[in-house]
Amino acid sequence: MKAVEVDNLSYSYSDGTKALSNLSLSIPRHKRIAFLGANGSGKTTFLQHLNGLLLPQVGSVKVMGYQVQKNQLKKIRQLVGMLFDNPEDQLFSTTVAEDVAFGPRNLGLDEKEVETRVKQALEMVNITDLAGKPPYNISLGQKKRAAIAGILAMDAQLLVFDEPFSGLDPGFANQLMSLLEKLFHDGRTIIIATHDVDMAYAWADQVIILRKGEVLAEGSSDLLQDAALMKEACLYLPILVTAFQGTKMYPRTPEEANQLLWYASRGSKII
Ligand SMILES: Nc1ncnc2c1ncn2[C@@H]1O[C@H](COP(=O)(O)OP(=O)(O)O)[C@@H](O)[C@H]1O
Ligand SMILES: [Mg+2]
Repeated sequence: MKAVEVDNLSYSYSDGTKALSNLSLSIPRHKRIAFLGANGSGKTTFLQHLNGLLLPQVGSVKVMGYQVQKNQLKKIRQLVGMLFDNPEDQLFSTTVAEDVAFGPRNLGLDEKEVETRVKQALEMVNITDLAGKPPYNISLGQKKRAAIAGILAMDAQLLVFDEPFSGLDPGFANQLMSLLEKLFHDGRTIIIATHDVDMAYAWADQVIILRKGEVLAEGSSDLLQDAALMKEACLYLPILVTAFQGTKMYPRTPEEANQLLWYASRGSKII
């Protein structure tokens, strides 16, 4: 069974904007997937189909074997944890802890289990000290952490994060990267929408590039080395691709790049 199967999906908003056109794709389970595309390419519209926030108008979407349709939404929302682009859209309780408790309580878990999950989730994103604060009185980065805690407390199998790194300071961006790795190694499938090509290049097993609501390309993150393709997608080349252009090496992270430069400085013919 695939994590996601999409067949011929199209979606237009009520003002007539065609946001998705004939999208077909499949995403295996237990992979790190990045949806890339310029602003307005349809990333958010697509992701919102994965938890049934939007329902297919044309075509179909299956998540973990379940058709995304009205009568399956309860099941789908147990399976899919969704971080919205704007965390303010998903925080509505009187305290951060109550917000994080909302999902697990909705699953029908007993209060003791809810309490344990809330405590663990707040610890995982380092905001235990904010538990009693109203979510509207915290910074944007903290709101993002609170929204992520709410998702972690649900223990969903498929995690869908829309622009998770926007508005985060570098410290928490690094923590979030490590957290994503941990969640992945625990067996989850993780889908991210981003226009951060450097992050996608370092992280993703599979990338899907959207342009004007259509799939422009999909494959391994090697695709991001293709200057013509990136130009067509209105995206920058990853900075490490630009920096190492003309060499035969393709470091994915600054650490790998450092290592290569160190070898080069020792006269190695590696680059
Ligand atoms: N609520 C909406 N009503 C009308 N048009 C919308 C709405 N939300 C998004 N769009 C339009 O749909 C297209 C895809 O947008 P979106 O999915 O948000 O792209 P992305 O997340 O890649 O920036 C864009 O042209 C955008 O302007
Ligand atoms: Mg978006």
